[in-house]
Amino acid sequence: MKRSKINHIMAEADDFIQSFGFRLPPFAYFTPDEMKARRSDIDAILNARLGWDITDYGAEKFDEMGLFLFTVRNGDQADLKRGGGMCYAEKIMISRKDQLSPMHRHIVKAEDIINRGGATLALQLFNSHPDQSIDRDSDVTVFCDGIARTQKAGDILRLSVGESVTLFPGNWHSFWGDGGDVLIGEVSTVNDDLTDNIFEQPIGRFSNIEEDVAPTHLLVSDYDSWL
Ligand SMILES: [Fe+2]
Repeated sequence: MKRSKINHIMAEADDFIQSFGFRLPPFAYFTPDEMKARRSDIDAILNARLGWDITDYGAEKFDEMGLFLFTVRNGDQADLKRGGGMCYAEKIMISRKDQLSPMHRHIVKAEDIINRGGATLALQLFNSHPDQSIDRDSDVTVFCDGIARTQKAGDILRLSVGESVTLFPGNWHSFWGDGGDVLIGEVSTVNDDLTDNIFEQPIGRFSNIEEDVAPTHLLVSDYDSWL
């Protein structure tokens, strides 16, 4: 993706998020130069990989397959291992109308996916076989706001504004905006996007960036090379 497109998606996403009364934290608006100048203050932001995350999964067709994410908070893997402390994470995301987040599962992370506003959020769901591959036969039971829902393998779960679903590591899932754009919340186990996303298709988790203009704000995937 071109950096100019990333900048444009950030600006549009910020407007969309604010239209629902949600506000991003102050570090969202640091420029790359401010991040460099404050480098000694922002270790916790960089280590937890908080911030902007815009992905086309490396496939260069963001409008059809892509996701806007902003990691608001993220805990400590060491706390998770010892079983206490900051074991949680929160993201705010946007799926545009029919923009697919492709079929995947997680190894460690359980996640509540929440429709925070806009159109309907559609999710396709499958169970896993014991070898973790997709089970295309067995019924899927998930909890939606505390109530169990059972549907056929591969059926579509539709969440209206205010509804959520709890997904566990065995739940294969893809999702998109159904009938319009959706603001999505994610509340989850501490998150490591470098290792914890297993996709059905051979795709990447992050975008390849072509630097045609200067970045408005850095992406999480820029931190290692820019700071
Ligand atoms: Fe997921």
